[in-house]
Amino acid sequence: MPANPYEKRSGDALVSDDPSRLDLDIVHGFLSRSYWAEGIARETVARSIAGSLAFGLYLEQTGRQVGFARVITDRVTFAYLADVFLLEEERGRGLAAFLMEAILAHPELQGLRRWSLVTRDAHGLYRKFGFVPLASPDLWMELHRPYRGGAA
Ligand SMILES: CC(C)(COP(=O)(O)OP(=O)(O)OC[C@H]1O[C@@H](n2cnc3c(N)ncnc32)[C@H](O)[C@@H]1OP(=O)(O)O)[C@@H](O)C(=O)NCCC(=O)NCCS
Repeated sequence: MPANPYEKRSGDALVSDDPSRLDLDIVHGFLSRSYWAEGIARETVARSIAGSLAFGLYLEQTGRQVGFARVITDRVTFAYLADVFLLEEERGRGLAAFLMEAILAHPELQGLRRWSLVTRDAHGLYRKFGFVPLASPDLWMELHRPYRGGAA
């Protein structure tokens, strides 16, 4: 756990990288019903968080976690952004954009050579932060083992 968690505020919203603050019920509850990780086990979510730089987005008035994302990274050359979500009732008011801004400003994620992500329909969000489709998709390969029921 970081001695001094990274935090960024915008109005009532707070982004923190403190893993002890994350609400596993919220994160697992969302991911296990998502199109990309349907059926994921709670323990798998917990272990994936432990091996990542994970971010929670909280509303300070209630302290409730309403958003999440995690970055799989060596913190020097490469980062893969995964499991980004906002709870449905909090969407559409810039919170995912604030979460992205906070992640990209994290002091341990500066100067990386490449960021990567996969999305079915949120290209518009990531485009705002400089992400573009693969320039040479024919160079990329993958070994894909979806979770039970997962489509992506
Ligand atoms: C994608 C998601 C995180 C966006 O959250 P949000 O809080 O509604 O997004 P914001 O309000 O911060 O949107 C910021 C900007 O990105 C754009 N944007 C957001 N989601 C978008 C999408 N799916 N497609 C295109 N543009 C999108 C918004 O239009 C907005 O643009 P504007 O500033 O020009 O108005 C949210 O819809 C979500 O959790 N979806 C379900 C999970 C998911 O699909 N996650 C992404 C997996 S890769």
